[in-house]
Amino acid sequence: MNAIETHARLLGEEESIWFKLTPLLKGNTDNPMAILLKMAERYGPVIPVNMGSERVVLVSEPELFKHVLVSKADNYIKYFDGLKPIFGKSMITNDGALWQKIRMPQQPAFHPDAFADYIPFFTAAIKQKMDQWRTYAKSGESFEMVEQTWTLAADMICKAMFDRDMPFNPHVVFKYVKTYTNVQEHKGIREKKKSGSAYEATEFDAAKAMQAWADVPPAVIAATSRDHREKTLLKLIEDCVADPSIPEFDEQQAIDEIKQYLWAGTETTALTLAWSLYLLSIHPEAAKRVIKESEDVLGDRDPTAADYTSLVYTRSVIQETMRIYPPVWGLIRVAANDDEIAGFKINAGDRVVVFGYSAHHNPRFWDEPEEFRPERWMDKSKRQVKYSYIPFGAGKRSCIGGAMSQVENTLALALLLRRFRPEYVGPNPAGINATVTLTPKGGLMFKMHELD
Ligand code: HEM
Repeated sequence: MNAIETHARLLGEEESIWFKLTPLLKGNTDNPMAILLKMAERYGPVIPVNMGSERVVLVSEPELFKHVLVSKADNYIKYFDGLKPIFGKSMITNDGALWQKIRMPQQPAFHPDAFADYIPFFTAAIKQKMDQWRTYAKSGESFEMVEQTWTLAADMICKAMFDRDMPFNPHVVFKYVKTYTNVQEHKGIREKKKSGSAYEATEFDAAKAMQAWADVPPAVIAATSRDHREKTLLKLIEDCVADPSIPEFDEQQAIDEIKQYLWAGTETTALTLAWSLYLLSIHPEAAKRVIKESEDVLGDRDPTAADYTSLVYTRSVIQETMRIYPPVWGLIRVAANDDEIAGFKINAGDRVVVFGYSAHHNPRFWDEPEEFRPERWMDKSKRQVKYSYIPFGAGKRSCIGGAMSQVENTLALALLLRRFRPEYVGPNPAGINATVTLTPKGGLMFKMHELD
């Protein structure tokens, strides 16, 4: 059996944390987070749940997030069972000295000083997306928004960080690989496997999906350079492979790093932008403010780094969207050694879920937490409780691309809404599907209108 088939066979196995969490996420079909919020309210900030041979511990208070992610970060290590096929041995899955060796050399590509260089490429990708939206506006057909924002996010990474025009079909690739992160599908596939049904020959061919995913990094590497730039993330990765002082950073590491960026760096960014377009469509006053700010700051010209600083309200829309719909609703760790959290004994091997969503929706930290209020981010008189807002995680393992994603999404909103009025036409409120990420149930359907 080759590596791809082995990965494919792992899908839906009971050891996966995502498989285990399925029963907890099933109660409210329109918002599975509501069940977990109720549990946290009723049973307190540390909830151990026995699941077969091991325990899952749900943690939902900011100071406990700090304990797990910052103060005792070395005791709570990354846990990627079930997702290795997507991320391979990339930085996001590693721990300790090896993780540091992989992350350090790539860090400069994510420093705010690099953003100004990326902005023309983000803008080029956004303009390409506008061409597609123009055809939707003309035809009047409805379409799913996350697919749209996902292809945009992937194109932004390819153009800005890899110096490539996206050399693969994101609609096909992401649809395939999403099956790995969709917990509900794990369950279905598991059941088919158990009953002996030939699931591989039916609607989803796991090995084929893995093959499609495996083909992406070589396609990126082989594609023609777009602008022959000297300083790109792809160049940094290639330099690491050539550097004899980091022998661990081999060809496979490079391939897995590319996979990681094309997944962790695109789905999250895309969900944020799609949810923000949904929120703005159902809050037209807020949409008007975004348009006004875009006209005042940008007028008709392309954005610069200085403009990003001035787009205060638009940036607040993005921040507020990630508070209400944090793309990563829970961070998963495994305890290396016994410990204690708020008086509860943690055993080595316990799976700990840092339930960030709960703090984002807690009225102790946010006035009217269910309300969409971008202005709250502009009110400097209010001090935020530390770790009550963790869309990018916290501590040394926090997101490498968080600051950059805010630039991508702020500029995308400002430029797209200056030309279009995306109209949400799905059920209101939109349902939530909690997979590894917080996705809209059944997608977010829109119609497009072009402004005069
Ligand atoms: C709205 C956009 C984004 C959100 C909400 C987000 C969220 C997160 C979170 C919560 C983590 C920490 C996971 C954990 O502690 O277990 C993380 C890690 C990571 N993210 Fe993001 N992310 C976003 C955008 C990006 C972008 C644009 C990139 C790169 C192009 C990126 C690359 C990564 C990588 C490589 C890690 C692993 C860092 C490490 O382990 O040292 N992310 N992200």
